[in-house]
Amino acid sequence: MTTDVHTLSSMKTHYNEDLTIKDIDKEVTLAGWVSAVRDLGGIIFIELRDKSGFFQVVADPQINPKVHEVFSKLKDEYVIQVKGKITKRPPETYNPELATGEIEMYPDEVKIFSEAKLLPFDLSSDDTKEDIRLKYRYLDIRRPQMANNLKLRHKIVTAIRSYLNNCEFTEVETPILINTTPEGARDYLVPSRVQEGKFYALPQSPQIFKQLLMVGGIEKYYQIAKCFRDEDLRADRQPEFTQVDMEMSFATQDDVIAMTEGLIVEAFKAAGVDVKPPFVRISWQEAMDRFGSDKPDARFGLELFDISDIMLESTFEPVKETLKKGGIAKAIKIPGIAGYSRKEMDDVRATAISFGAKGIAWITYMEDGTVKSPILKFLTEEQIEALKTRAQAQPGDVVFFVADDKKTTYDVMGRFRLFFGEKLNLIDKDKHALLWVVDFPMFEYSKEFDRVMAMHHPFTSPNLEDVDKMKTDPMNVRSVAYDIVYNGTELGGGSVRIHSPEVQSKVFEALGFSEEEVQQKFGFMIQAFQYGTPPHAGLAIGLDRLVALLTHNTSIREVIAFPKNSAAKCLMTNAPTYASEEQLMELHLKSTVKHEAKV
Ligand code: AMO
Repeated sequence: MTTDVHTLSSMKTHYNEDLTIKDIDKEVTLAGWVSAVRDLGGIIFIELRDKSGFFQVVADPQINPKVHEVFSKLKDEYVIQVKGKITKRPPETYNPELATGEIEMYPDEVKIFSEAKLLPFDLSSDDTKEDIRLKYRYLDIRRPQMANNLKLRHKIVTAIRSYLNNCEFTEVETPILINTTPEGARDYLVPSRVQEGKFYALPQSPQIFKQLLMVGGIEKYYQIAKCFRDEDLRADRQPEFTQVDMEMSFATQDDVIAMTEGLIVEAFKAAGVDVKPPFVRISWQEAMDRFGSDKPDARFGLELFDISDIMLESTFEPVKETLKKGGIAKAIKIPGIAGYSRKEMDDVRATAISFGAKGIAWITYMEDGTVKSPILKFLTEEQIEALKTRAQAQPGDVVFFVADDKKTTYDVMGRFRLFFGEKLNLIDKDKHALLWVVDFPMFEYSKEFDRVMAMHHPFTSPNLEDVDKMKTDPMNVRSVAYDIVYNGTELGGGSVRIHSPEVQSKVFEALGFSEEEVQQKFGFMIQAFQYGTPPHAGLAIGLDRLVALLTHNTSIREVIAFPKNSAAKCLMTNAPTYASEEQLMELHLKSTVKHEAKV
């Protein structure tokens, strides 16, 4: 880091780690936190910490009794300022672990800005419970790991902004108090005081506004946008999160993909990782068939294969029934586990069942060349041979398979593949497997809502070759939607948008919206599209996920300054809290929850 005087305040002349052996004899003023105090035979050593790193300051009663007296009062996390000359440490006390390990200061002056109580946890420990870290997040951020995550996040955002600015994008802020956005999650609602009984929704994404910016002629838009979704939380989901959101007019899927690949290169470079586009593109169907997932982890093999045709010829009746009803049988070959004990196989079966399988069958290819399986009795010699050939099975391998409806089979086998990838240590953690999944289906059936829903959102363009199937065979209509996947995580997604009112009507119809509903929900958008709409396409990347992956963190909470816990609570401020009766009255609301809390 290099600093000049303009970047500093009047209370310090340097950041700690700006100083080197070349600065010997320089008069400087430093300020920061006391991070360790050691009293060695009356001489007091202090590690002074600031945003750049550490610097050793020393008080010797023989040299400066006044300074020594103040030093003797210092405790961890006091905030102090020291003034003095940089000196060279005696070589036997060099600390190679510190950037400033060859220098120190015997200050002429010291000032205590603030004292600190004993901290609720040890900042040097990596094992502090997350709840405690979140409650005292401002202290947690003093830990270099957290501070570095936030700094890297800033660096990545800076690289992304600079890339998009160079590509002539305009950053535009879109509103937070809006109407519902159709991204598939539940909305956060904000009651209006002035509009009695009415609510704003917080944006699940800026989707609608960015498309309207295209109608507005902005042509290239981006925003580092806060989004809000009330959904079940996991390690890679927060109720409020950040998207790098962009939209381009007169652009095709290839244009957005090329633009995003350039952005990914720059973002990864900011984190010290080199990746080379173009990234592989595979269709959604291929991703499901080979990996059982629309966000495949391509860092390892263990690809799935289909054995429906062989099983259909067998006498394994329950499986045949499933296949006749439109189900599929998918298999995976796990090498080197033929020697698993009965208990180990029972555990594997329990794992598959925990993933949603009703059952799992297997065939073991023993080291002595024999084949063992509880289902051999349902198969002819030819079928057993056909399975072996399909699996390219070797002695030591076990082939597992599940037959169920398509969705369940893909889901179970996809998770089963990941389970063995981890268990057998097949995942090279240093690999950066980036790929595009394209040609998503336009619609999916939602069991929860018992209706057909848009797989991305209802403004996604269908593949124009499939528009005729919209009424007759909607589940086989492909969309022009694409996701970017990194090491098995969906980093971002987008689509070419519908810009024709006729196609948009057909999609709304297929989704079962009445004319009235369409007008009520999206009337303003349909109206806007009647005044000259350019073809447009876009994408949004989950910034939190991107930074978490680039810092090797499994949870996005590690790269968010003040995240919520898995119950969507802020443990530091206690949000959300009950509202007072007065507040509720003012908002024309009545709570059905009884509570004693006074706010
Ligand atoms: P989508 O819903 O796929 O697309 O979101 C884009 C990316 O945002 C991230 N993401 C999340 N990150 C953290 N917590 C969450 N709860 C969360 N939900 C989503 C993911 C995801 O890939 N408007 C479209 C984009 C477009 O079509 O241009 C959209 O929001 O990394």
